[in-house]
Amino acid sequence: MIDEYLLLIIRWSHSIAAVAWIGGAIFYWLVLKPIFKLKKTDISFTNKVSSEFNKLVKLSIWVLVITGGILLTSRLAEEVATFQYVIILSIKIFLAFVMFFLVFSIRVPTSSPDGLQKNKAGLNFYYQINKPLLVMVLGIIIFFLSELLQLIVEQGLVK
Ligand code: HEM
Repeated sequence: MIDEYLLLIIRWSHSIAAVAWIGGAIFYWLVLKPIFKLKKTDISFTNKVSSEFNKLVKLSIWVLVITGGILLTSRLAEEVATFQYVIILSIKIFLAFVMFFLVFSIRVPTSSPDGLQKNKAGLNFYYQINKPLLVMVLGIIIFFLSELLQLIVEQGLVK
C-alpha cells in the first residue's frame, strides 16, 4: 500500500516537472518571445528571464531523470510491459536524452557586465538556431508518447 502511494508521489513529481518545462517552453514561444522581439525590450531583462527559466529547466531534468528511472523500473517489473510498450518507451527515452543534450548545449546568457557584452553579439540564447523550439516540439511529442504508454497499460489491465 505504501509502495502505491510512493509511486503516486513519484508519478505526480514526474508530471509536474514535465508540465513546468514544456508548459514554460510553450509560454516562452507564444507569449514572451513576441514581446522580447519588440525593439525597446532591454536585452539584460530578456537574458535574465532566459537564465532564470534555464535554472527551472535544469531542475526539471533532474526530477524527470530520477522519477522517470523509478517509474521505468516499476513498469518493467509488471506484466503490462508488452513489446509494444517497451518499444514506445525506448523511443520516448531516446527523445528525452536528445532534449537533455540540446538543453545542456545551449549557451546561457549571464547577467554579469562581461556576459552581457558577449550576449549582445549573439543576442540571447533563445535566438540560436532554434534549439529551444526543437526542445519544445520534442517535449510535445514526448507528452503524446507518454499518454500512449498509459493507454497501452490501461488496455492491458482491461483485457
Ligand atoms: C530519462 C527520461 C525519462 C524516463 C525514463 C521516463 C519514464 C517514464 C515512465 C516509465 C512513465 C510511465 C508511463 C506509463 O504510464 O506506463 C512516464 C510517464 C510520463 N512521462 Fe516520462 N520519462 C522520462 C522523461 C520525460 C520527459 C522529458 C517528459 C516531458 C517532456 C516526460 C513526460 C511524462 C508524462 C507527461 C508522463 C505521464 C505521467 C502520468 O500522467 O502518469 N517524461 N515517464
